[in-house]
Amino acid sequence: MHTTAIQKANEFIQKHVEKINPQYRHDFHLMGETGWINDPNGFVYFQGAYHLFFQYYPYDSVWGPMHWGHAKSEDLVHWEALPVALAPSESYDAGGCFSGSAIEKDGKLYLMYTGHVEEGDYRREVQCLAVSSDGIHFEKYAHNPVISEPHIDGVANIDEFRDPKVLQHNDVYYCVVAAQTPDKRGQILMFKSENLTDWSFFSILLEGKSDQGVMWECPDLFTIDGKEVLIMSPIEYEREAHSYWNLNSTVAFIGQVDWETGKFNVENEHEIDYGLDFYAPQTCLGPNGERMMVAWMQMWKRKMPTHDRNHGWAGAMTIPRELHVDKNRLVQQLPQTLKQELVLQTVIKDQPITERAYQERFVTTQQYLNIELTLPAEGKVSIHYAKSEDGFLEISYDTKDGLLTLSREQMGEALPGEETELLTKRMVPVALNAGKLSFEILRDTSAIELFTNDGQTMTMNFYEENPGNELFEVMGNGTIDNVQVATVN
Ligand code: FRU
Repeated sequence: MHTTAIQKANEFIQKHVEKINPQYRHDFHLMGETGWINDPNGFVYFQGAYHLFFQYYPYDSVWGPMHWGHAKSEDLVHWEALPVALAPSESYDAGGCFSGSAIEKDGKLYLMYTGHVEEGDYRREVQCLAVSSDGIHFEKYAHNPVISEPHIDGVANIDEFRDPKVLQHNDVYYCVVAAQTPDKRGQILMFKSENLTDWSFFSILLEGKSDQGVMWECPDLFTIDGKEVLIMSPIEYEREAHSYWNLNSTVAFIGQVDWETGKFNVENEHEIDYGLDFYAPQTCLGPNGERMMVAWMQMWKRKMPTHDRNHGWAGAMTIPRELHVDKNRLVQQLPQTLKQELVLQTVIKDQPITERAYQERFVTTQQYLNIELTLPAEGKVSIHYAKSEDGFLEISYDTKDGLLTLSREQMGEALPGEETELLTKRMVPVALNAGKLSFEILRDTSAIELFTNDGQTMTMNFYEENPGNELFEVMGNGTIDNVQVATVN
């Protein structure tokens, strides 16, 4: 049954891939060949390549019964599409193969995912396994589910219980799974196993407060730079200052796990990305021990022009980012594999910024930029990026409040979500370094990812009708010390 469901999906993709409208398609960000994608799943380095699976409904540009799409890459920039890996086919996953993770054991690749079933008011979410020797064709485990009702009796409910992320610590397998308390707070449960097939309940790793969201989706737990980090995606986390403005947020808890009791001691907590389109991040270890993180470059319930315009696809992944912990914060950098492929060209050097717009024409649709500015003690700077008849993206900084703003207010059509107000911009506090502000930008057709020099990020989509011939415009006070660009190809 599984083989038939997969075959049907792959045949559909082959038949429809040519019909996809390319207008807003990215070049180096992963998308489904057809249809809808959401969360990254099963991110893993296996047999010499990164494998990235994803929540996938190949048949339409809307969410539907979830399959697992699949692609691989050696450099996280060029992706090769692979056949669909999982499709709903069994009584325990008939409503969809929901999010999960991957791990290698004895040369085989194991996927751990949530089998979802929903009929009227009835919902059941259980944790399942599938295994592959070649990393492409997966067989579901005959004794699925491996974690279900008996494992959470008296602890959590089976109707909100999903997104297993499997990890190894001291030769023992653990998995963290999202659940919900009876009074609707987020909760992360931890399970333990010697062999990946027999699991026992270990602990409630962490439980949210009432203002920290009604459900915590897609947990991931890893050790890095001497700290443990628990990341997750809470629904309806309460807005505070410049953080958690989206209906669905992402958060990093930094601290230590007590591996005896299975409790997470939180030392610090912050939002992961300060943009409008970033959700469900997942990490994996690269070949040199680097911790890489990728997220869905979208937000639930946002307007999706590629669907509205019948383009046949919706959703993409962010560029995978390298993580570190510094001063108890998660910092993100562009992957080395991308940076070493860039041929940088200096396009502006030591140019005073004035109130009048300073314009250049070096913007391209697949672009990396490194921007370094010196700002006076009191002053503002505003960059209009990719300016055309359709508008521009604005990146601005005000030394008074130390806030860096990324705005799509002036670019293309408005993209409302279910937030109470229309969000068009986000802000993040960034301290100047001896009067200097520097950041990097990665642009791919209809998405921009901004990396500040202190490792914070802002990710946003935008939809420009007629790209090409775009301007780079700067106004305000201070100096443009340096702008370097490179084409990403
Ligand atoms: C997060 C999520 C997961 C779930 C999946 C379903 O975006 O809601 O909790 O497994 O999407 O597609």
